Amino acid sequence: MKSFIEEKVREIREIVGEGRAIIALSGGVDSSTAAMLAYKAIGERLHAVFVNTGLLRKGEPEFVVKTFRDLGLNLIAVNAEERFFKALRGVRDPEEKRKVIGRVFVEVFEEEAKKIGAEFLIQGTIAPDWIESRGGIKSHHNVGGLPERLNLRIIEPLRDLYKDEVRQLAKELGIPEKIYARMPFPGPGLAARIIGEVNPERVRIVREANAIVEEEIERAKLRPWQAFAVLLGIKTVGVQGDIRAYKETVAVRIVESTDGMTANAMNVPFEVLQRIAFRIVSEIPEVCRVLYDITNKPPATIEFE
Ligand code: XMP
Repeated sequence: MKSFIEEKVREIREIVGEGRAIIALSGGVDSSTAAMLAYKAIGERLHAVFVNTGLLRKGEPEFVVKTFRDLGLNLIAVNAEERFFKALRGVRDPEEKRKVIGRVFVEVFEEEAKKIGAEFLIQGTIAPDWIESRGGIKSHHNVGGLPERLNLRIIEPLRDLYKDEVRQLAKELGIPEKIYARMPFPGPGLAARIIGEVNPERVRIVREANAIVEEEIERAKLRPWQAFAVLLGIKTVGVQGDIRAYKETVAVRIVESTDGMTANAMNVPFEVLQRIAFRIVSEIPEVCRVLYDITNKPPATIEFE
C-alpha cells in the first residue's frame, strides 16, 4: 500500500502539473480515498465538491463536511435538495430515477466546476463499478458526460482496486475509521431504497428506518457488508390499539459480501431483527409491517432499485 500511494501520488502530480483538479466527494469510502490521495498529491489545488442531493442518510451532510474540512480538504458544500426532488417528481422507473439523479448531479457539479475552472476530474471509480456497468446490470451513478462537456481529463487512481483494498489504502492515508470502515452507500442514495416515486415524505420514512437499522447493527456489534431499510411502497393491514391500520411496509436487507459482486443474506440473530422491527413500527408512525430479505445476490441485487 505504501508503494501504491507513492506511485499514485507521483502519477497524479505528473498529470495535473500546476493545474487544478476537482472531485465529487460523497463521503463514501471510494471518493474519500480518491480525494485524500489527490490531496496528498496536489493539496489546495484539489477542490472537493460535496452535493447534498436530499437523498442522503441521517446526519450525513453535516458529518461529511466537518470530517473533511478537519482533514484539511478544500471543500465546497452545495445544497441541491430541492432541485433533486423537483426533477424526481413523478418518476417511478428505477433506471429512469438513476438517470435523472445522474443528470441533475452532473448539472449541479458542472456549475461548481465552471466556477473553479479545473482541468482535471478525479474519480473514485473502483473495479466492480466498471465491471458491473459494462455488464449493464444497473446504470451506475457517476459524473458521466461531464468530462466531455467541460473538457476535463479524468483521473481514476482506484480503478483496479476492490473495496477491501480501498479500505486498506484509506487506513494507510490516515482517513478516520468512521469513514473507511463504513458500509457502502449507493450513488443514487436513498432513492435506490424507495420503490416508486421519490419525494421528501417518502425519503424521510426510509431515512429514519435506515438510521434504526444501522444503530441496531452497531449495537449488536455485527459487521455486515451492508445493512439498510427499503420502503416497499405497498400498504398492508395492521392493527394498532384496537384500530385497523393500513400502512407502509419496510424491508430490511442485511448482507455479507467481500466485494459487492455477490452477497449472502446475513444470519442475523432473531432478537436483533425483532428489535429493528419493533423500533421501526414504534418510531415511524407511517409503517406497520417490517420484512427481512433472505435472498442472496445473485439473483437479487443488494439494493432494490
Ligand atoms: P447492487 O445493488 O448492484 O449493488 O447489488 C452492489 C454494490 O454497489 C452499491 N451500489 C452503487 N454504488 N453507485 C455506487 O457508487 C451506484 O449507482 C450504486 N448502485 C449500487 C450497492 O450499495 C452495493 O454495495
